[in-house]
Amino acid sequence: MAATSRVFLDACRGRPVPFTPVWFMRQAGRSLPEYRALRKEGSILEVVRRPELAAEITLQPVRRYGVDAAILYSDIVVPVASIGFGVDIVPGVGPVAERRFDSPADLGRLRCLEPDEDLPWVAETVRILVGELQVPLIGFAGAPFTVASYLVEGRPSRDYVRTKALMHSDQATWFALMDRLASIAVRSLAAQVAAGAAAVQVFDSWAGALDPDDYRRFVLPATKRVIGDLEGCGVPRILFGVGTGELLGAFAETGADVVGVDWRVPLEVARRRVGPGPALQGNLDPAVCAAGWDPTRAKARAILSGVGGAPGHVFNLGHGVLPETDPAVLGRLVELVHEQTTGGGTT
Ligand code: CP3
Repeated sequence: MAATSRVFLDACRGRPVPFTPVWFMRQAGRSLPEYRALRKEGSILEVVRRPELAAEITLQPVRRYGVDAAILYSDIVVPVASIGFGVDIVPGVGPVAERRFDSPADLGRLRCLEPDEDLPWVAETVRILVGELQVPLIGFAGAPFTVASYLVEGRPSRDYVRTKALMHSDQATWFALMDRLASIAVRSLAAQVAAGAAAVQVFDSWAGALDPDDYRRFVLPATKRVIGDLEGCGVPRILFGVGTGELLGAFAETGADVVGVDWRVPLEVARRRVGPGPALQGNLDPAVCAAGWDPTRAKARAILSGVGGAPGHVFNLGHGVLPETDPAVLGRLVELVHEQTTGGGTT
């Protein structure tokens, strides 16, 4: 086994790096023909129970793009599905619950996660991967709010009406729900790290639906606990959300080592909002990648020159790769980020 490259991990810690590391959220997935060929029919929740297959899907983008990190092929609803909450992922739709969470009695459907019994195949996939990879493996979990939004709405939502109604009308149940989902995330992440994941990302994809007051009051404490409880694991902790420009300061207060930034906020502005501590990850608009190479090159250069070679930057998209993206664009983007930042140059 070759030594694992530390560039991504060093950038997460704000240390100097020989070039800016790059990986892509949803780098494994429908934009890759080799993924579509392997994936066939059936729920992703079935695929992730097959360690050899899940490991192969995780490796596909690493081989093709030469990215500086791999991300485990799994999903944010895998832990709650594994304890029997009753949720599936419908292709083209997303997570759909058999029965929504809509009363305190539903807390009984969210028992403590026992990773060794409930999802031993996740650790097995991680172990296969760390034996194969020459770059770090990122483990991940959904943040309490984002997972709650699927359980309470019962399916993907635009306005989060039910979730916000629960939060504002029955705070005891809301905080109990946040607490259970925080514990599930911590146990899931700790098991991934124990099996060999070298960093973790907490996806609070939909936290940007909240105003800063509600975020701080109803969500930040649980997310902060997830980040804090993982401190002892000794791996960088990345916190990511979409449309979270107004929440970046609060994201930094969780103690995350890296804060994800989407394309709506320039990284220089994000830096002022998070302060000097955390590294930043982002922030090319995935729709620009889907638009082709010329716009992608122009935007990527602008992002890199805005950062100006400052340490503590992990290049990524501002959200996941869109299925219509030409994989050749992403391959060229990895080359460009590496070339432009080698030796500290930014132009
Ligand atoms: O490459 C990677 O980033 C790793 C794999 C990964 C998946 N889901 C695989 C997946 C990761 C990190 C996730 C996390 C996830 N799942 C998030 C947070 C990231 C984000 O996008 O904000 C969210 C919100 C989900 C919930 C979810 N799962 C949605 C909205 C969908 C899309 C449904 C669809 O078909 O359009 C999924 C399904 C899913 N998860 C797919 C993949 C590759 C696509 C469907 C499939 O192949 O069956």
